[in-house]
Amino acid sequence: MKNTVFIFLVSILFTAQTVAQNYDKQVDDLLKKMTLEEKIGQMNQYTGFFDITGPAPMDGDSKVKYDDIKSGRVGSMLNVRGAKQIREMQKLAVENSRLGIPIVFAMDVIHGHKTVFPIPLAEAASWDMEAIEQGARIAAIEASAEGLHWTFAPMVDISRDARWGRVMEGGGEDPYLGSQIAAARVKGFQGTDLSATNTIAACAKHFAGYGFAEAGKDYNTSDVGTSTLYNVILPPFKAAAEAGVASFMNSFNTLNGIPATGDRFLQRDILKGSWNYDGMMVSDWGSIGEMVPHGFAKDGRHAALLAAQAGSDMDMESHLYKVHLAELVKSGELDEKLIDDAARRVLLLKYKLGLFDDPYKYSDELREKELLMHPDHIATATEMAKKSIVLLKNDNKLLPLAKSGKSIALIGPLSDDKTSPLGNWRLAGDDGTAISVLEGLKKYPNNTLQHAKGLNLIGERIQFVHEVEINTDDRTGITEAVAAARGKDVVVMVLGEHGYQSGEGRSRAHLGLPGLQQELLEAVYEVNQNIVLVLMNGRPLAIDWANENIPAIVEAWQLGIGSGDAIASVLYGDTNPSGKLPMTFPKTIGQVPIYYNFMNTGRPGPIEMVFWSHYIDETNAPLYPFGHGLSYADFSYSDLNVTSKAMLNGAKVSVNVTNNSTVDGHEVVQLYIRDYFASVVRPIKELKAFEKVFLKAGESKTILFDLGEDELGFYNNQGKFVFEKGKFDIMVGGSSMGGLVKTIDL
Ligand code: NOJ
Repeated sequence: MKNTVFIFLVSILFTAQTVAQNYDKQVDDLLKKMTLEEKIGQMNQYTGFFDITGPAPMDGDSKVKYDDIKSGRVGSMLNVRGAKQIREMQKLAVENSRLGIPIVFAMDVIHGHKTVFPIPLAEAASWDMEAIEQGARIAAIEASAEGLHWTFAPMVDISRDARWGRVMEGGGEDPYLGSQIAAARVKGFQGTDLSATNTIAACAKHFAGYGFAEAGKDYNTSDVGTSTLYNVILPPFKAAAEAGVASFMNSFNTLNGIPATGDRFLQRDILKGSWNYDGMMVSDWGSIGEMVPHGFAKDGRHAALLAAQAGSDMDMESHLYKVHLAELVKSGELDEKLIDDAARRVLLLKYKLGLFDDPYKYSDELREKELLMHPDHIATATEMAKKSIVLLKNDNKLLPLAKSGKSIALIGPLSDDKTSPLGNWRLAGDDGTAISVLEGLKKYPNNTLQHAKGLNLIGERIQFVHEVEINTDDRTGITEAVAAARGKDVVVMVLGEHGYQSGEGRSRAHLGLPGLQQELLEAVYEVNQNIVLVLMNGRPLAIDWANENIPAIVEAWQLGIGSGDAIASVLYGDTNPSGKLPMTFPKTIGQVPIYYNFMNTGRPGPIEMVFWSHYIDETNAPLYPFGHGLSYADFSYSDLNVTSKAMLNGAKVSVNVTNNSTVDGHEVVQLYIRDYFASVVRPIKELKAFEKVFLKAGESKTILFDLGEDELGFYNNQGKFVFEKGKFDIMVGGSSMGGLVKTIDL
């Protein structure tokens, strides 16, 4: 069976031809048969009661819903899963409603499904697009086996603010890397044929500007300049659209004063206009209704009107389209053509998914049983976890650890936790299914291992939502932890954030180690300085003290089901770490937002006097820059050659990379450019290409990059992509800092 699944998987990935069927005629014919109410019905999406991912009116809601389904007034459901459950609900629609139009079932399938993969920010650290695509592929295989058709992923919001809890769900701070990841995830979820029973529709979210929430506070205002909008925020969305993403989701925030849900410029002019996008736009949870408290709509009726006019095709859980749209059309305030357009987009998705051929085709209990948590999926998730780990610091080669004859103390509130490493946004993942670090380290039995947590987790599940924190006042375990650390050869400390301390609604105003963990770290350090700090977190942390004092630091994010095995494998050198940071780590929260691709300013300094762009009490430099990540191997760069192709407005780049060590390893070779002057000021560095290469011990390779106008150009403030001749730096290295530089004139 194992092999069958994988032959099937491989065949879907590599041999199937894209099925680009045109369903215009079918959709037209169906629309002609539909009443206004039925068309509006397609624009409604309601939650089931399996899981709640936003504030929902609970009371009495389900009865309305079942009646609505039977009368064709529900286009989509979210948060219902299970092959059987979905078949039953689908039956209500298909067998009872006048036209028997199937429902499209959706869920947040964000990083794996039942087999939980590393959180998306961690996967981004792998810089391995094939692996990321495969992760999404497996998520789709499992989700579709549970009857699901559609995921609300990938989240492609660029963010520069570690306070924002949802950075865990995205690809980090860079638009180029973010665009590659967006496309990889879309391809993974959707495969080459949306109607295959093991692919699901993807959704690029949140359109747009959600990641630029002021002060990193979730749902907050975004005020973004034109250049940032076009050059930073929109590119990953465009990449998703170009990769054929089946849907978009708009967002809760206002962008430059307009709630994204009611923003015609974003949805009609850019997405459905200049990008010519023919997929559908779903609102975020209740975001149509939220235009009232935003102060944009005077009441629910007005909100429904504004959202429909702006191009929000489906109302997720506001219940406002259902109530108001028909009357708005009848009163002449809303053009019925807009309803037709929205319903057309929803129906098109259902045709593409093959739901009109067989509305039950995804609901196959046998497949569900075979595929969920398939051993091959778990193995792949563990490999992904290994690729996602970033070695931040390794003084005196403390790592890797010797496999025998050593005494090790394992300390920290997260050291034996089997739930936190699953991270947030893993609706189908069961608590307690991750391998803990304790379990992982025990698989290396020739060292002695003493375990003392030091601090506990305090947590509960409130209704459907986990709220967990790390001890803030109980110091009783610290003494035991200090005693365990005393005299040991090495102390492994697993500290960071619980999985539910990042994610939606989990903005943080402090970026240090939560609870008493800093105190624990310093207490242990007093008696033993040979510490390997394993960080588990869903966002960059400001851990300046640790960086100053702790010799080895490993960024292990929330790595999903294989977490502890992957971490142990890296600590013991069976895996040579190869991850690189997709987001800058600040030294202190006062530097946030901090990112590598900033503008030079007119006063970049440093100068002796105080009048340059800096802080008087902190350096401008980050703790760890974007793209940073060490290896047990030692890579060097040489012979950077840049041949300008002036006629073609481009350049050919070659560079030699050598592994000077005795261990094999992967290096992410990163190419950055600087465009020195332009009609719109360009950042001091922009990632424009990268390649993850494998180098055996002692091996050298020549890496080639081709730069053209796509890489050297930019969007001007009219949203037009332009290339402007002039002086460019081409920089190549293993991080956004340092590297070899050549300057060209085009
Ligand atoms: C709200 C979140 O912002 C969105 O990303 C998610 O898809 C929906 N809830 C549905 O769960």
